[in-house]
Amino acid sequence: MPTMVKMSDLEFSALRKLIYERSGIAFQDNKRYVLESRLARRLEELEMDSFGQYLQFLSIGPYQTDEFQEMFNRITINETSFFRNEPQLDVFEKVVLPKILEARKATKRLRIWSAACSTGEEPYTLAMQVHRSLGVRLSDWHVEILGTDISQKVLNIAQDAKYTSFSFRSVDPLVVSRYFKQDGGFQVLDPTIRQMVNFEKHNLKDSLAASRHGIWDVIFCRNVMIYFDDDMRKRVLEMFHKQLADDGVLFIGHSETLRSSSNLFKPLDAPQSFAYTKA
Ligand SMILES: C[S@@+](CC[C@H](N)C(=O)[O-])C[C@H]1O[C@@H](n2cnc3c(N)ncnc32)[C@H](O)[C@@H]1O
Repeated sequence: MPTMVKMSDLEFSALRKLIYERSGIAFQDNKRYVLESRLARRLEELEMDSFGQYLQFLSIGPYQTDEFQEMFNRITINETSFFRNEPQLDVFEKVVLPKILEARKATKRLRIWSAACSTGEEPYTLAMQVHRSLGVRLSDWHVEILGTDISQKVLNIAQDAKYTSFSFRSVDPLVVSRYFKQDGGFQVLDPTIRQMVNFEKHNLKDSLAASRHGIWDVIFCRNVMIYFDDDMRKRVLEMFHKQLADDGVLFIGHSETLRSSSNLFKPLDAPQSFAYTKA
């Protein structure tokens, strides 16, 4: 087995600075080993024997954009599942969605953004919830659900819409049989739900690209802000505030807080919702 290339103090600080500048992901002082081990394979593939060489490869030369993509594919945590945090999703389906649908009944337009959606389980879950809420009325509505992520690799999996049992670890089997078809070792998502969701690469650091997508009725951004520092979190929340409709709702992860932007948002009055409206 080849020995893992070690990262020096200088290389660690240069690499985490580059990562932070590009993505807002903050690797703390004690996370050198994490970065070292997640990138070890990549250095082997590139036949590089130091992180210094890798830093040069990232900073100069024609391949830097592709290599950043390759690097984010490896350093990001992509864990997700269908119906993740069900009590929160119940609030979305039973409290928030009916209100928004009522408020939009004249235009029949509904826009939902799942930011940092990883392999697609989150936006597809929301699509299933919209599908069962609207029922036969769905065809009268213009529903847009967008899933975005910094990593193209996870988005490719999302587009495929084929999942293993691991993605269904907290799902009622009735939901699985209603919306999926077994094919070998995979569950293939029903095309009706598949077609309700679009995917696009987007870095949460890019507020300009976010503004091009317009205003959303609901934004889900769960389990990514934990990897950002206060500064980046604040930037992202300011961007969400700009992109959310005045009566829209923002859902965040159960271990996240809006402390740094508490002047922009106020909590929704619903237990376990981790949901916010504009202050
Ligand atoms: C743990 S997953 C969360 C997936 C889903 N939201 C959920 O809660 O189940 C975090 C995702 O954030 C993405 N990510 C990390 N930094 C990002 C950034 N700056 N912009 C957009 N996505 C980012 C990662 O690629 C990863 O897929």
